[in-house]
Amino acid sequence: MEKLSFYLFLLIGGNFLLVVTCYPNGQVTPSCSNMIPDHGVSAQTTLAPYNITASKNTYSPGEKITVTLQGSDVFEGFLLQARKDGGTAAVGTFTVTDATNSQGLNCNGPNSAVSHKSSTGLTNIQATWVAPSSSAGDLEFRATFVKSKLIFWVQVKSSQVTVNTTAFGSSSSSFNPNIMLHLPLILFVSGILVCYN
Ligand SMILES: *[C@@H]1O[C@H](CO)[C@@H](O)[C@H](O)[C@H]1NC(C)=O
Ligand SMILES: *[C@@H]1O[C@H](CO)[C@@H](O)[C@H](O)[C@H]1NC(C)=O
Repeated sequence: MEKLSFYLFLLIGGNFLLVVTCYPNGQVTPSCSNMIPDHGVSAQTTLAPYNITASKNTYSPGEKITVTLQGSDVFEGFLLQARKDGGTAAVGTFTVTDATNSQGLNCNGPNSAVSHKSSTGLTNIQATWVAPSSSAGDLEFRATFVKSKLIFWVQVKSSQVTVNTTAFGSSSSSFNPNIMLHLPLILFVSGILVCYN
């Protein structure tokens, strides 16, 4: 038990040090988690003139869902992710279907987010979301829409996309307590990834 606590101490302590020391290097991409553009002003609080729709309202492992961003107004920029309800990290991956106007981003793994490629105004863009192989729970698509540098709406949400628990099987829906033992290691490795990506 002594050994285990020491191991946990080293991993958590080491990870903390990494996170603290990597911030000054500018190696983090802050917009990935809060989806707020670093434009020096606050987001609009009015109803956005943009919406997100998904081609399906339930997902199975590896299932492809077409996500459409559209507006009654032009948007110059966007950041799209799938998030577990109330979650703070991107889930699944995207396949870019309009490579002229959009690109995949590494927010939580390669292509876990999609953004604009230039500030050519768009009123409509699509991307294909590929569901993860293990269940991420019920989720929604969220996008930040930038109308102009000072005018943007953060985390506009789609309708809920529920997980098809039958397709993921019973093992993926039950919590495995063994993962708790590895949590410090997972945090440590993700700390390294955040620093070096
Ligand atoms: C989304 O926005 C478009 C363009 O304004 C509109 O035509 C469409 O009806 C909206 N869809 C939903 C589901 O709100
Ligand atoms: C859920 O998964 C089951 C098993 O793979 C499948 O038969 C069923 O059609 C799926 N339901 C939906 C709504 O996709």
